[in-house]
Amino acid sequence: MPHDSTPQRRTFVVGISGASGAVYATRLLEQLLRTGAEVHLVVSEYGKRLLFDELNVRKLDLDELLPALAAEPRADDVDQRLVRHPNKDVGAVIASGSFLHDGMVVVPCSSTSLGAIATGAGSNLLTRAAMVTLKERRPLIICHRESPLNLIDIENMRTLTLAGATIAPTNPGFYLHPRTVDDLVDFMVGKILDLLRVEHDLQTRWADHHQSKYDQISPDPN
Ligand SMILES: Cc1cc2nc3c(=O)[nH]c(=O)nc-3n(C[C@H](O)[C@H](O)[C@H](O)COP(=O)(O)O)c2cc1C
Repeated sequence: MPHDSTPQRRTFVVGISGASGAVYATRLLEQLLRTGAEVHLVVSEYGKRLLFDELNVRKLDLDELLPALAAEPRADDVDQRLVRHPNKDVGAVIASGSFLHDGMVVVPCSSTSLGAIATGAGSNLLTRAAMVTLKERRPLIICHRESPLNLIDIENMRTLTLAGATIAPTNPGFYLHPRTVDDLVDFMVGKILDLLRVEHDLQTRWADHHQSKYDQISPDPN
């Protein structure tokens, strides 16, 4: 249930930390905002650096952060529905369990943020909001990115899974024959939207027309 007086509006929290793959976050924000949802955004210091390094985003305004959405004829309220919070403001609404929302996604999630959330050691708004999401038993989706993984990451993922989070690493599949980077990004973002129970039309499903013809060929005996 949302936190304000608009009962039908869904509310999500998105955290962007300093792992590669900023485009997953911006595409997710775009999709969530298109559904009419309210989205609370918190970006870590290294998340800001990644947004700049990978997408040339210098300011978290709509034009820079979500140019595709900003270019569309859209309802004027999009800018208000994207609520940005400073990462150092641990007094922001999303730091409190009394703030009702429908789920939080950390995308991309660095090993640093993963560890802070898993150990309860988070001292910034992003990690605090994630820990609060867990304690309130709301969906927490952690889209970790690093490769290879060390045992510390693996143990942190185990801990978070046991605590109720969903670990959804940013590793798109190739079975739908992606042709562009956008196809790969959409595959992952569609998975995240499924986890949030948000309807979408991104290509993620193994539908009939994608079925393998492998059983119709003569198998190679070797
Ligand atoms: C260009 C760049 C790419 C990075 N990519 C990753 C990554 O994919 N995964 C990761 O765990 N850390 C990555 N890091 C390191 C993190 O940003 C760093 O550990 C930082 O402390 C994360 O802090 P945060 O979780 O508060 O954002 C990257 C750093 C830079 C500058």
